[in-house]
Amino acid sequence: MHVLTLRINGDCLKVAAPAHWTLLEVLRYELGLTGSKQGCDKGDCGACTVLVDGKPRLSCLVLGSLAEGYEITTIEGLMPAHLCAGGEGADPVQDAFDRCGALQCGFCQPGMMLSARALLNENPSPTRSEINQALSGNLCRCTGYTQILQAVESCVADAVGEDR
Ligand code: FES
Ligand code: FES
Repeated sequence: MHVLTLRINGDCLKVAAPAHWTLLEVLRYELGLTGSKQGCDKGDCGACTVLVDGKPRLSCLVLGSLAEGYEITTIEGLMPAHLCAGGEGADPVQDAFDRCGALQCGFCQPGMMLSARALLNENPSPTRSEINQALSGNLCRCTGYTQILQAVESCVADAVGEDR
């Protein structure tokens, strides 16, 4: 067992885990942060996406020990981060997915929403093609993607409305 020091959702946590465990395994099986989903476990589906220093990364492909020193955000940290930044309620991405009915089974949603949040933080007014590109690593087997794209576009429209 290795003792890792990880910064997750704003907290500094010490956690003991086998040296070969991925960040996804540490999150799910030691820290109980099961919002990050274990789908393919080999980098294909995007269900395990977390933010590493604000960038979407596949936590099934990152060794837990290599995540030390970075700021990790999981889906569990999205709403608290929004509240800390002075927002109200859920993160606008979560709210938009809810309003647009952009989910069915929900398995892909944590990764999908974190990829969308990373995109909007970097580019508040993405085009449909840029949204498609940013979400291209997140597979959904239920929705057909239309409502997901609409949800992200509705965040953009809401943000533009707020700025006026
Ligand atoms: S579980 Fe990581 S990409 Fe599928
Ligand atoms: S809602 Fe089921 S996989 Fe996306």
